[in-house]
Order: sequence, then C-alpha cells, then structure tokens
Amino acid sequence: MKIGVLNETKTKEKRVSISPNIAKQLIGKGFEVVIEEGSGAASSFKDSDYTEVGALIAKKEVVFKDSKVLIKINPFDEEDLKHVSKGQILMSQLYYKSQPELIEAIAKTGATAFSMDAMPRISRAQDMDVLSSQSNLAGYKAVITGAQEMTKIFPLMMTAAGTIIPAKVLIYGVGVAGLQAIATAKRLGAVVEATDIRMETKEQTESLGAKFISVDNTGEESEGGYAKEASEDYARRQKEAVNKSLFQADLVITTAMVPGRKAPVLISGEQVEQMKNGAIIIDLAAAQGGNCELSVMDKTIIKNGVKIIGTTMAPLSVSTNASELYAKNMYTFLLHLTDENNEFKWELEEEITDGTLIVHEGKIRKN
Ligand code: NAI
Repeated sequence: MKIGVLNETKTKEKRVSISPNIAKQLIGKGFEVVIEEGSGAASSFKDSDYTEVGALIAKKEVVFKDSKVLIKINPFDEEDLKHVSKGQILMSQLYYKSQPELIEAIAKTGATAFSMDAMPRISRAQDMDVLSSQSNLAGYKAVITGAQEMTKIFPLMMTAAGTIIPAKVLIYGVGVAGLQAIATAKRLGAVVEATDIRMETKEQTESLGAKFISVDNTGEESEGGYAKEASEDYARRQKEAVNKSLFQADLVITTAMVPGRKAPVLISGEQVEQMKNGAIIIDLAAAQGGNCELSVMDKTIIKNGVKIIGTTMAPLSVSTNASELYAKNMYTFLLHLTDENNEFKWELEEEITDGTLIVHEGKIRKN
C-alpha cells in the first residue's frame, strides 16, 4: 500500500507528517512511501534523507494520484480536495466540530477521512495522540521562550558580586503542556507554582517538585476526568487563591483549555495591571481565544510593563522533534488500522476507529 505525504501549505507551518526515520520503519513493514518534494525542508529533513531509506520523492500531483493513503498535519483544504478521488484515505487533524463545510467537501469526494485530533483519550491510544505529543513540546518551548524574554535568570545564583534569587514561575493548567512546563522550569532552577481545576493534578504537580495552588472545586463538573467549563464562582475563588502568586510571578504560562470550547479567561486586564513590571505571560491557549483577556493570537502585547505573548507557534518552532513525534503517532495509528499484509482492516465499533473516523467512503459519520 502506498502512503503519500503532502507538503504543509499553511502559513508559517514548518512540520512534516512523516520523518525519514518513520518512513524507514513504514518501508520496513512493507508499505511504500512517497513524499512530496521539499516537504521536510523546514524540519531539517532533506529529500535525500527520505530517498536513502527507500522512500520516493514526487511532485504534489503524483503524490495525490498514486497514493492510497494521504497524510498531513493541518486539515486538507479546498485546493487539496481538488486532487482527492473516491476510495482514497485521508489522515490529518480536521477539527471536524468547528469545520462542517470542510467535512462536507471531503464527503463529496467519496474519500474516507480520519481526524487525528479526535483520538479518544484512553490508555491504549496514548501513543497515537497527536495533541499530546505536540502539547508536550509546546510546554517545553513556552518556558524557553519565557526565559529568553525575561530580563532575569531562572536559578538561585550565589556569586562574589551578590546573590540572585530564583525566578518565580506560575503555570495555569496542569495537562500535558503544563506538566512539561513545570518540569522544564524546575530543571532551569525556578520556583514553580501551578493550579488546575482538576484536583488529581495536585499530586502530579508535587511529584515534579512544584507547589500546587488548590482552588475549592466543589460543584464543578468534569467529564471522564477532563475539565468542563468552570463556573463564575470557581473563577472568583481561583483569582482569590492565585492572585498573590500571580502578582509576584516573573513568568506565567497559561495552558488551560476545555475540549470543544473557547479557552477560559483566567487572567483579566485588571489582574495584569497588578503584575510585576517586566513580567511575561506566555498564553498557549491563544488559538482558542486565550487564557489572558489581553492576549492576541501570534502577537506580543505590552501592557503596564507586562509582556503578553499569545502563541500558537510553539510546536512549529521545534519542527524537527514535533515532526518526529507526529510521525511516530501516525505510524502507530497506521499499524493499528492495518493487518499483517498492510491491508486496512478496521471495525467501525472499535473505540479508536470509531472516535477518529469522521467520513467513511463519502458518508459523514460525525458532526
Ligand atoms: P487540555 O489541553 O484540554 O487542558 C489543559 C489543562 O487545563 C487541563 O489539565 C485542564 O484541567 C486545565 N483547565 C481547564 N480549565 C481550567 C480552569 N478554568 N482553571 C484551571 N485549569 C483549567 O488538557 P490536556 O493537556 O490535553 O490533557 C488533560 C488530561 O488528559 C491530562 O491529565 C492528560 O494526562 C490526559 N490525557 C490522556 C491521554 C490518554 O489517555 N490517551 C492523552 C492526552 C491527555
């Protein structure tokens, strides 16, 4: 079976969905792999890195025409769909809940489409979870970006010229990105505090050596262990509990999201006014509206001496690793859907297939 890898055309995107290392593993399993020319360039993978492991390099039209499976990171767009034909299998992030028109356009081609961002969050799907693999890097990169923007260093330093006290880092949301941000900031020597609406994250935070700021979450709903939209009362209690740390923080990283909804606003403009001069906020939820009221996606705002960086770029800025991890997720997913002869063999009721299969042979299954 031939797997086609398409160049990502989204502005500023630097990742590629299959790395040379994973192409090699797929070929080792008996798949054929064809890569659109130049697709790996922005992730530091040369076309020759792919051909050396046995993959083919071809022009876009040839990749579309010859492949049974077409893989991307960003959603297939109108231009892509002009080349898609009945019977082909598309795999990418589709964000299908917010993109009904795209899903209808895919269905019209007669193709089948899987949405990687719809992966069910169960233990056996962990190694296929692209949201996790990318969030993990985002958490790391947020701390590094913060360190670069700050006019201070992270660790305690005792020198002949005096003692430097460690930087204070506050993290909102202890999911995949938040946990990695805690671990990275701790490694760099900062004093780290974190908060989350899910109380089970207290232990995870403390196991990394950070302090958890507990907020009474009585009356707040959760769904299968995932946060739901918080009440106004919770937001008030959270502010009361966190404000002291927020106003002393040198770096604040916000990662709080609620699946399928706009991100909750956790830091108001008024709170920003009381923050320290020179403090930095890195808002990883900027694409979903932002956790800070003042965040603007892909922009840096300075308010009252506080720099607010609304970023959607974090995984793209470490595109080599981000591509490797995305590719590994795709590899595991492909093996999950195929048998030992590399033929697709899925059961519609199976949880991973059911969760991710959005369009089946031209018919929309989920919207
Ligand atoms: P996310 O990106 O949806 O949200 C980040 C964090 O923000 C979450 O911990 C959430 O509880 C928190 N949050 C939401 N609203 C908040 C508010 N108003 N105030 C404070 N915090 C708020 O979450 P992510 O990182 O995608 O994962 C959440 C959980 O799911 C983690 O425990 C993770 O380990 C688990 N997970 C499990 C997977 C699997 O079993 N296959 C795969 C991925 C994640």
